[in-house]
Amino acid sequence: MNQSIQQKGAHVTTRRLLDMKQNGEKISMLTAYDYTMARILDRAGVDVLLVGDSASNVFSGHSTTLPITIEEMIYHAKAVVGGVHAESGRAMVVTDMPFMSYQLSGEEALRNAGKIMKEHECDAVKLEGGRVIAETVKRITDVGIPVMGHLGLMPQSIYKYGSYRVRAQEEKEAEELLEDAKILEQAGAFAIVVEKIPSSLAAEVTRSLTIPIIGIGAGVECDGQVLVINDILGLNREFHPRFVRQYADLNTVIEHAAKQYVEDVRQGTFPSVDESY
Ligand code: KIV
Repeated sequence: MNQSIQQKGAHVTTRRLLDMKQNGEKISMLTAYDYTMARILDRAGVDVLLVGDSASNVFSGHSTTLPITIEEMIYHAKAVVGGVHAESGRAMVVTDMPFMSYQLSGEEALRNAGKIMKEHECDAVKLEGGRVIAETVKRITDVGIPVMGHLGLMPQSIYKYGSYRVRAQEEKEAEELLEDAKILEQAGAFAIVVEKIPSSLAAEVTRSLTIPIIGIGAGVECDGQVLVINDILGLNREFHPRFVRQYADLNTVIEHAAKQYVEDVRQGTFPSVDESY
């Protein structure tokens, strides 16, 4: 663990998350992609910051998470870790391993997980998939790198599904998902994100596993919840899925502020004497 974090104490660790599950304390997790936001979210007491490959959508404007590269993920992760260190140092930082950085071979996955951990001192990596990546999860955790799993709707497989609809509604897929969760736990994963699955299934997974289950569109019975920061802040006017609770309308706030600025510049009322040297 980073020494500055150790000195600041209270840093959220994999052990702490396990204790939270055992004590029935809910885990809060949000995505973050930059230094400034990471500072605010750490200050707000968010337990886990996910440097999500959703940066591909909300930061870079791609239609899927597939194009983002490992170098781009490391760039975002460095900024987020820097933001957490600049504040209380409390939040755990988990970085998504991007599409095709861990699927080719266990060796390459390990090399890339190590690269992510070494280059920006985050706490853990997150991988999408169940039994197919179990060996890889084991290989990465065996060398001491904590792995968070991700099941249900897995955005890196969106071309296989063909849609963002709710996953595991049929019994067979639900049974497979529960089995996959158990396999990931056995392989050494310290927590699992379950995305867009029926609440009853998420509750069963949560009850059946000893590691924390973090839901997104998976109901209230999970051990914790994760959402994309841009969504809860209302930064994307076009995106309002049912599972997102919007806590602010920053789209309107920012547009209004920018319009006001443009107006002031055009009118010659900015800068004032007080705002000049
Ligand atoms: O990349 C991401 O933001 C995620 C969350 C939606 C869990 O994986």
